[in-house]
Amino acid sequence: MKLVAGNWKMFKGTSETLAFFDAFEAPAGVEVVVCPPFTSLSLAAGRGVPVYAQNVHWAVEGAFTGEISAQMLLELGVEGAVVGHSERRQYFGETDETVRKRCEAALEAGLRVIACVGETESEREAGETGAVLRRQVAAIPPHEALVIAYEPVWAIGTGKTATPELAQQAHESIKELHPTRVLYGGSVKPENAVELLAQPAIDGALVGGASLEPGSFGAICRAALA
Ligand code: 13P
Repeated sequence: MKLVAGNWKMFKGTSETLAFFDAFEAPAGVEVVVCPPFTSLSLAAGRGVPVYAQNVHWAVEGAFTGEISAQMLLELGVEGAVVGHSERRQYFGETDETVRKRCEAALEAGLRVIACVGETESEREAGETGAVLRRQVAAIPPHEALVIAYEPVWAIGTGKTATPELAQQAHESIKELHPTRVLYGGSVKPENAVELLAQPAIDGALVGGASLEPGSFGAICRAALA
């Protein structure tokens, strides 16, 4: 079964979260997950769709202002967390080492994990994609509750999707390093989802912008059934 996860990023406070769930119904036959911002997690949990956080700290508790632990998420009914998203790497100092610590702590606590990898445009142009993916994947612990999301940074929020062939190739190389399910992320829309999700090494999608509308997110979830 394919997995389609909606990463809402810093969108949707409580009222918009409620409106989303009023209008959204996940189709049967596909594993659907939503990742709201922290303040909407407790409201989103228990509405029939598994809820993941967008980040998680490695400590159980402590003097870590602004951070949230796996135990705190579990107490809300949250089932998993995204770790190492490129926006965390780019703007908030996330490193391969902190990705490893977050993954290990989340898995140990019983959360599922979507761990993100992907090269920037300049890394791709410099022919460094393979080396970047090897380095990032090496920091991700193998675990049956963990999937990897391949999100080429140049395709996130830009409307530039990786071609299905390019994504297929990257997914194959990730699976050689780490035998796990690999989701594709980066400008996934209802219009390109069928073709991307038809690639044999693409096991699902991590959707940003198009997951905010129940209609377009539902269409992408249904594309995973094709
Ligand atoms: P977009 O689908 O908006 O390009 O975002 C992708 C992403 O970063 C999902 O985590």
